[in-house]
Amino acid sequence: MINNYQKVLNDNKTLNSKKLILRRFKKEDSKDVYEFGSDEETLKYLTWNGFKTIGDAKSTIINHYWKRQGIYAIELKEENKCIGCIDFRLKPEHEKASFGYVLNRKYWGKGYMTEALSKLLEFYFSKLDLNRVEATHYVGNEGSGKVMIKCGMEFEGIAKKEVKVKGVFHDVVHYGITKEKWLASHLIY
Ligand SMILES: CC(C)(COP(=O)(O)OP(=O)(O)OC[C@H]1O[C@@H](n2cnc3c(N)ncnc32)[C@H](O)[C@@H]1OP(=O)(O)O)[C@@H](O)C(=O)NCCC(=O)NCCS
Repeated sequence: MINNYQKVLNDNKTLNSKKLILRRFKKEDSKDVYEFGSDEETLKYLTWNGFKTIGDAKSTIINHYWKRQGIYAIELKEENKCIGCIDFRLKPEHEKASFGYVLNRKYWGKGYMTEALSKLLEFYFSKLDLNRVEATHYVGNEGSGKVMIKCGMEFEGIAKKEVKVKGVFHDVVHYGITKEKWLASHLIY
């Protein structure tokens, strides 16, 4: 089963939706990645500390993004620009995945992350045949939960003070979607 996942991921490194291309990162994305990865407002609810320089973004692409499957650059077709990242983490032993995402603040509120997540749910359920996809956000970052709800995910509860990040305990909101639920309700982009 694990080898099969590898093959499907290798055969589908680029996914196309209406307005977006989900693809591997390129070195040429460094400036765009720095743009969203250095904005304090964007990083507010992330454990990630972001980048100090374009060089930091470039070395992260080479040393981290290229070494793992499931990390997608979100390219906006009409601008040929990398406007964000969505990171699927497979847990093959449970036939499930979790994910995290971030978008350049200039592009918030235009439906782009809903489009990107819907496309990836379609791929992970229909091509990888996963049984479940799950994700979390901190209380306070409800915009992130709205994206998940729009993609058919269901609220599963709040874990009180579940994580300590940058010295602060956060209540964490959990969402999930099973394959059955996805089949019954999915959006196609
Ligand atoms: C969370 C994030 C990815 C949302 O991306 P986006 O492309 O702006 O989301 P969409 O445009 O697809 O929005 C989907 C829905 O959520 C709503 N929404 C998105 N961000 C919101 C916010 N900050 N506050 C309230 N609602 C929000 C939208 O209005 C939309 O609902 P609608 O169609 O009823 O208007 C983006 O704000 C972001 O990158 N934030 C910083 C990083 C982050 O917090 N990542 C998540 C960590 S768990």
